[in-house]
Amino acid sequence: MSPNTWPAEAIWEQVYPLLPDFTVEVLPEIDSTNSELMRRARAGQHEPTLLVAERQTAGRGRMGRVWQSQAGDSLTFSLSLPYAPKDWSGLSLAVGLSLAESLHPQVGLKWPNDLWVHARKLGGILVEAASMGGRSQVVIGVGLNIRPRPADGLNTPPAALTEWRPGITAAQTLGLVAAPLIQTLLNFEQTGFAPLQARFEARDVLKGHRVHTSDGAQGLSLGVSPSGALRLQTASGVLDIHSSEVSVRPFPAEDKR
Ligand code: BTN
Repeated sequence: MSPNTWPAEAIWEQVYPLLPDFTVEVLPEIDSTNSELMRRARAGQHEPTLLVAERQTAGRGRMGRVWQSQAGDSLTFSLSLPYAPKDWSGLSLAVGLSLAESLHPQVGLKWPNDLWVHARKLGGILVEAASMGGRSQVVIGVGLNIRPRPADGLNTPPAALTEWRPGITAAQTLGLVAAPLIQTLLNFEQTGFAPLQARFEARDVLKGHRVHTSDGAQGLSLGVSPSGALRLQTASGVLDIHSSEVSVRPFPAEDKR
């Protein structure tokens, strides 16, 4: 795909009234868009930047995992901006919600921030922050499967956006999600997650299901709290899980533990 097909200018025109120093960059290849924007933040480059890579050679997922993607079959980008919310909790949920609402009514959210459709993973989000000299910068990385991909080596079978939006390209998808995502981040900085709780709940794929976590908890998901914690009804009471360094999976439907 040629960089010229990316809607960089259109996105810039939508966003620059909100973020005057905003830039959009499209690279044919880089190790990881998150790694690059974190390097820039640590080097003191704080301009709000949307960085798209047609191909990542070392894409990173949550919890130290690898994020694999094929040029043209997926959308990989990161957004970096100076950021100072009163409360960071629930930020990754807000990002997932913004993406889901921009993509399709059927896109669900699996706490904390996976995009799921019918128990398959459509995309993931990696939120990182850098702090330098009293300023903080957030880097939000997004990977979306646009066209079907092999399930080899994945914990969760993949879904592809073209199943619900036939013919859509990575570039068109970027055009749909970028400006609303930036608006969501600016709103979140002022008001946090609580105003988004009900909209998250409408897409919450875990609520009402029995789940288990990577650190050994299990229970019935009661949904998310106003601060974005996952609320589990366990045998010993209600447990609020705040850490994003935990992965959560539903038990298979027939499993009544
Ligand atoms: C996950 O579900 O584990 C999160 C995946 C995040 C992948 C995106 S692709 C663009 C950005 N650059 C990276 O190296 N990772 C994120």
